Amino acid sequence: MSEKERLIIFDTTLRDGEQSPGASMTREEKVRIGRALERLKVDVIEAGFPAASEGDFESVRAVARAVRGSRICGLARAREDDIRRAGEALQEAEAGRIHTFLATSPIHMEKKLRMTPDEVVDAAVRAVKLARSLCDDVEFSPEDAGRSDPEFLCRVIEAVIDAGAGTVNIPDTVGYNLPEQFGGLIGRLRERVPNSDKAVFSVHCHNDLGVAVANSLAAVMNGARQVECTINGLGERAGNAALEEVVMAVRTRQDFFPCDTGIDAHEIVPASRLVANITGFQPQPNKAIVGANAFAHESGIHQDGVLKHRETYEIMRAEDVGWHTNRMVLGKHSGRNAFRARLKDLGIEFESEEQLNEAFQRFKGLADKKHEIFDEDLQALVTEANLEL
Ligand code: KIV
Ligand code: ZN
Repeated sequence: MSEKERLIIFDTTLRDGEQSPGASMTREEKVRIGRALERLKVDVIEAGFPAASEGDFESVRAVARAVRGSRICGLARAREDDIRRAGEALQEAEAGRIHTFLATSPIHMEKKLRMTPDEVVDAAVRAVKLARSLCDDVEFSPEDAGRSDPEFLCRVIEAVIDAGAGTVNIPDTVGYNLPEQFGGLIGRLRERVPNSDKAVFSVHCHNDLGVAVANSLAAVMNGARQVECTINGLGERAGNAALEEVVMAVRTRQDFFPCDTGIDAHEIVPASRLVANITGFQPQPNKAIVGANAFAHESGIHQDGVLKHRETYEIMRAEDVGWHTNRMVLGKHSGRNAFRARLKDLGIEFESEEQLNEAFQRFKGLADKKHEIFDEDLQALVTEANLEL
């Protein structure tokens, strides 16, 4: 790990990820995912919302018991009963965190909470103080910060830091912000809040406009040092920022970022598979990092380039994020070099260029009829052509 500042990875697959309709998990499943996140070396695991149900309380407690390498966090509204419940669920954690939140946007304060801004500030401070009496690590989120008045946000943030919040998380709850705007907001808050150096600034971006990762990265460039994210980008509605994308963007572009995570990237694909298999939500094939095609090459030009030097068309190594290898997919766009290389891997070599050409023509004919040519198709094709093996 470099000398750079640490970018804290806060994974909320087990809380916000689980809020994805149809993705609810049993206690045992949460513990399995919790252990995978620990292997990934996630800094903070938000294991659930203990006040939401007896089941979620038990799940947070079970994850807190089972996981040792990561801090375990429980979510609580800014209400006494929620906060006490979170504190109870975390009692057996080696390192715990209570994450309490209260909305600060005009629409949420007026229509949902029916509270005045002054009442919101008071309730946020009370919540943080109570949480601090139960746990020495407290995070506060002004919900819907992305649509809140920045001046009011400054007031709330200053007050909760004074009350003992060690992390202030800025959520773009409805995924409304754009990268330049969101990065600018984080920069401004850090500049204007007088005690901002006493807390870690965190961001929590939703993907309604498809820019959750871009917003998170813009925030990091403006001083955020914790990113909240989920495996495979699972989460409410269009999901949360995808952990694997945030981590690999920062890792791959170390020339650009002033910080790095402590994530063991080799564990990314195993964690992604586990979450996909448990929830039944498979990442789409072209999903960055963890999609089946993320390291697959089909066109002849790309295959030829990669066979000569991988960096011609690869900016990361498949092996570094937990894939066995990159993949040459044989299809109608593939070229002779990839065809020859795959046959060689199968132990099939040609005595002459004519034989290779003959087999390659047959392969192209088949590829016009079939999306992908598998090893068995190649074996059959060569046998049929009656070539020397
Ligand atoms: O999206 C959101 O605002 C949240 C908070 C609870 C942090 O999930
Ligand atoms: Zn959220």
